[in-house]
Amino acid sequence: MERTKILVTGGAGYIGSHAVVELYKAGYQPVIVDNFANSQESALTGIEQILGVKVPFHRIDCNDMEALRAVFAEEGSLRGVIHFAAFKAVGESVAKPLEYYQNNVGSLLTLLAVMREFGVSALVFSSSCTVYGVPDALPVTEQTPTKKANSPYGATKQMCEDILRDVVAAPDATLRTILLRYFNPIGAHDSALIGELPLGVPQNLIPYVTQTAAGIREKLTIYGDTYDTPDGTNIRDYIHVVDLAEAHVVAVRRLLEGHSDAVETFNVGTGHGNSVLEVVQAFERASGQKLNYVIGPPRPGDVPAIYADVTKATQELGFTTTTSLEDSLASAWKWQQTLKG
Ligand code: NAD
Ligand code: WQD
Repeated sequence: MERTKILVTGGAGYIGSHAVVELYKAGYQPVIVDNFANSQESALTGIEQILGVKVPFHRIDCNDMEALRAVFAEEGSLRGVIHFAAFKAVGESVAKPLEYYQNNVGSLLTLLAVMREFGVSALVFSSSCTVYGVPDALPVTEQTPTKKANSPYGATKQMCEDILRDVVAAPDATLRTILLRYFNPIGAHDSALIGELPLGVPQNLIPYVTQTAAGIREKLTIYGDTYDTPDGTNIRDYIHVVDLAEAHVVAVRRLLEGHSDAVETFNVGTGHGNSVLEVVQAFERASGQKLNYVIGPPRPGDVPAIYADVTKATQELGFTTTTSLEDSLASAWKWQQTLKG
């Protein structure tokens, strides 16, 4: 039987590459588009080694409408799209707001126009827990009010969500979409053939931890230990990237089987919060080595604590995570060692 084709924008990236693997394993035919703005061809090699087949790939910019049209025309029978392609560095977005609005909002608009032209009506969109800002109560549900974004990056995610809600609400709309609000994805595929490839000095916690353990960085600085949390450090909901990838398979299936409303939003996390110190301790257990760290000042803009209420994803998507924090960190460490060697 022919596989149902799903376009995966940003499919060479960190989360996208893992989603491509899970889609294929679930019987779909992923088709990747990526411009390698923040990824490398090695991700495609990794995917091929894991699956034992080459996944169709088009090197294009999703802002390029003609190029996107050509992909839809050439592939012929795309049934759905997962839109991962975006810039994602919060700090960089403050320095380069125009580039972030152009790439993140512009690529969605271009994609939506081409999807409409080709009659492709199922879209899974990569949103983020950043839309909640500093929440008033924990855990956050999908009903938790969103707050004014504190970075252009966060604003792009809110704008994209708003655009999608407006587009599906139009009287002649055919689009149906699922917005997945990811919490903090970490770790790598078990095979250590694909994973996160941070460029330069990592801004995110886990790559900084693994690079410190690998001797690439001298020490981790924990950004503050006087927050109003049990041990004073920030709390986040760290979800293994393969678990997160599986949520996309479930969402695609739901859209294609017609079980979804026109627009649905889901938190995708574990439902558990862990502090930075707990992450460090779990990493030490997972890797069997001590981590060199110091406590530094708080990082401006950091949310003291956020973690997901995952009731909706559990009940309506049937989605649950299976990987423990320690196993997630073990996979991140295994991946780091591959990069070193
Ligand atoms: P990533 O940078 O690893 O992957 C994004 C991919 O998109 C990259 O391969 C990049 O080359 C590609 N890309 C960017 N702009 C493009 C364009 N115009 N045309 C074609 N390709 C383009 O990031 P990721 O961590 O895999 O994140 C994927 C998505 O999930 C993003 O939308 C991001 O905002 C969102 N998200 C990420 C996190 C996180 O912590 N990683 C959390 C919440 C939401
Ligand atoms: C995690 C925790 C830091 C580095 C970001 C984006 C968010 C979403 C996920 C895309 C925090 C602490 C970090 C370090 C540290 N991305 N930390 N020392 O900030 O929760 O979220 O990625 O949508 O929008 O903002 O992730 O990995 O940067 O930080 O102490 O060297 O680790 O203070 O508490 P964050 P992170």
